[in-house]
Amino acid sequence: MALESIRYSDGKLEILDQLLLPAQNKYVSVKGVEDGWKVINRMQVRGAPAIAIVGCLSLAVEIYNEQFNDKKSLRQEIEGKLNYLVSARPTAVNMKIAADELIKLSNELAINDDISVNEMKQKFLDTTEAMLRKDIEDNKAIGTNGANAILQNKTDGSSVRVLTHCNTGSLATAGYGTALGVVRKLFEMNRLEHIYCTETRPYNQGARLTAFELVHDKLPATLIIDSMVSALMQKKNIAAVVVGADRVVANGDTANKIGTYQIAVVAKYHNVPFYIAAPLTSIDLKISSGEQIQIEERPQREMTHVGDHRIAAQGIKCWNPAFDVTPAHLITGIITEKGVFKPDEMREKVSEFLQTGK
Ligand code: MRU
Repeated sequence: MALESIRYSDGKLEILDQLLLPAQNKYVSVKGVEDGWKVINRMQVRGAPAIAIVGCLSLAVEIYNEQFNDKKSLRQEIEGKLNYLVSARPTAVNMKIAADELIKLSNELAINDDISVNEMKQKFLDTTEAMLRKDIEDNKAIGTNGANAILQNKTDGSSVRVLTHCNTGSLATAGYGTALGVVRKLFEMNRLEHIYCTETRPYNQGARLTAFELVHDKLPATLIIDSMVSALMQKKNIAAVVVGADRVVANGDTANKIGTYQIAVVAKYHNVPFYIAAPLTSIDLKISSGEQIQIEERPQREMTHVGDHRIAAQGIKCWNPAFDVTPAHLITGIITEKGVFKPDEMREKVSEFLQTGK
């Protein structure tokens, strides 16, 4: 059975607690926006698409269970609470984009005299619930586009070895995954010789979550520690690197999990194509370059401790940025549900899709 990080039906939301994986499979109930903010901020749920979906569904839970006398109060609640949810984690853009779209929808419905307050509420709930289905569809398209891009020069039908970083699979999305969706597609096509995943210190999304997914789905996989990437490329004939994104900005610079930038540098040195796999909801055309992306800094404890056990010397200072920015010139292609774009053509192509919806 496929892993499910988010379960929602009829005003009830549960998330798989990713702080407990891989030791325990435990779902926690999200009863409203306050719970939604906390599970995102504490990283019980993480990954840019999953953050946005859980944030929006946590508001859907409240709205489902509330009665509204007028559209003005419903509109105010939607706007205020979505803006609050955006503040839970700053780097991934998906929650902000989802919030802006839902606020725009509620503004339009609020001034439409043909729509009652109950119809407005239902439309909000339907739109929010649809995010789960749409994310899986988009990930499947990303998977196909990415697998074809990686295989484009492999005309002999041989299989490939790929490296990924962090966790971009079913646990980071509504299902299937972005970069891990590309890996899954290669496997389905019988063209994946091996997938390598990094440990992804300090939060260990690779060792705890990606490794868990790969074992669960029986893919041919090996875990490496973060400092083995150069050796891996020197020794193991890696065909491509594919990673996710928290925010791709207009010039193609991309914020993703800390360590992504150094993998891109090493990939360039070894002539290994380096791909970003991300839905359009991770693309922020309002920001022109990576320098303007706000990078979240997380507690020192994530570096100094493993569980309750201190591994770093007492008294040492720590710097713990959760993300870094890979410059566009190190990126071979940005794999989206609409196609694979070179960083310098991405702005134009994505604006066209956003304007025409096609
Ligand atoms: O801090 P996290 O675990 O939320 O960071 C996740 C990542 O950086 C992922 O690579 C990114 O969000 C893409 S998830 C499809």
